[in-house]
Amino acid sequence: MNDRDAMARAITLAHQGWGRVAPNPLVGAVLLRDGAVIGEGYHAEFGGPHAEIHALQSCDDPKGATCVVNLEPCTHMGKTPPCAEALLDAGVARLVYAVLDPDRKAGGGARRLREAGVDVVGGVLAEEATALNAPFFCGHLRPERPFVALKLASSLDGFLADAGGRSQWISGPDARAFVQWLRAGFDAIGVGRRTAEVDDPHLTAREIIPRIPPTRIVFSSSGAVPRSLKLVETANAIPTFVVTSIEGRERARPALSGAGVRFVAASETLEALQGLRAAGIRSLLVEGGGRLAGSLLEAGAVDRVYWIQAPLWLGQGTPAFGERSSSALIEAQRWTVVERRPLGEDTLLVVDRAPCSPES
Ligand SMILES: NC(=O)c1ccc[n+]([C@@H]2O[C@H](COP(=O)([O-])OP(=O)(O)OC[C@H]3O[C@@H](n4cnc5c(N)ncnc54)[C@H](OP(=O)(O)O)[C@@H]3O)[C@@H](O)[C@H]2O)c1
Ligand SMILES: [Zn+2]
Repeated sequence: MNDRDAMARAITLAHQGWGRVAPNPLVGAVLLRDGAVIGEGYHAEFGGPHAEIHALQSCDDPKGATCVVNLEPCTHMGKTPPCAEALLDAGVARLVYAVLDPDRKAGGGARRLREAGVDVVGGVLAEEATALNAPFFCGHLRPERPFVALKLASSLDGFLADAGGRSQWISGPDARAFVQWLRAGFDAIGVGRRTAEVDDPHLTAREIIPRIPPTRIVFSSSGAVPRSLKLVETANAIPTFVVTSIEGRERARPALSGAGVRFVAASETLEALQGLRAAGIRSLLVEGGGRLAGSLLEAGAVDRVYWIQAPLWLGQGTPAFGERSSSALIEAQRWTVVERRPLGEDTLLVVDRAPCSPES
């Protein structure tokens, strides 16, 4: 196995921590000797051992090995001792990492190892490693608002629901299982007020159990959120916010605050997102509908889109991205493709606007 293949394996391993390690990054590590894997591990649980430690523990004799890891090793005594020292104590001879840690307190492991005489190579699969931990990097490099991802399932002609407002089930079972998995990796799941009314969802993660159940958010400038919604009725058990205007909050407060709903009131979208960040939300998955998606895109607030395209035609219905202002082809924003894969009969496309890029 070469360095790139081992890094791809480390990234696959890192995914095993999905939903369990945030606000820490997803990290996987592989130990190689003469191109053969002699140990591997991943960060499995917030507060638990880091990937490098699991990899060292899985290996009989790491002396002289190469450690391949998607984020440089840590140098600080956090909830666990520093990985850089553990790698040095184990006699690792070579370090291959993808990107540096933007957390000044934790980072610096690549330099520490280089200064101690270890052969250090950086930047291997840096783009993939950046996409893997986009919410973590944005959290450090753009801390004022959450990482915002949109998830939408549409027909081939770009509709989220048919002309009667029905959207169950545009996509198939594999896509729905993927969405359940996806939810576990975000601090919060949001929908527009119309989706909250029409679909009356629970917005809980059921595929894997997240360490902290995501907060639910209804976006409603008007504040006209019915008391009878499942999201409202379960607000005392699972944190639920309404993102609204100042007037909307006055309107909604009497009915909803008694139910345990909290409010973020702001006069425009970016300010509302700052309010969510101040309330502790670092990453937000918005699941529609189209009008909310369009308004977030117009505000320049979307960092990533998970677009599930189902092979069916609706002709008319709810447009996936609401009403957008036009842009000439020559000036159009071109986003970066992060992933493309089949989900049963459906197709997943993941695109990023501009990643918060760490150094490598
Ligand atoms: N296939 C899918 O993936 C999918 C996903 C979700 C929904 N759907 C379907 O889509 C349909 C609903 O979509 P839709 O486009 O009509 O409505 P929507 O986006 O769900 O809701 C629109 C409402 O959200 C609020 N809103 C939008 N942007 C906002 C912002 N920036 N700040 C605060 N509030 C904001 C406003 O509420 P107020 O009017 O209260 O101010 C607005 O009227 C339903 O039929 C649903 O089943 C499909
Ligand atoms: Zn560490």
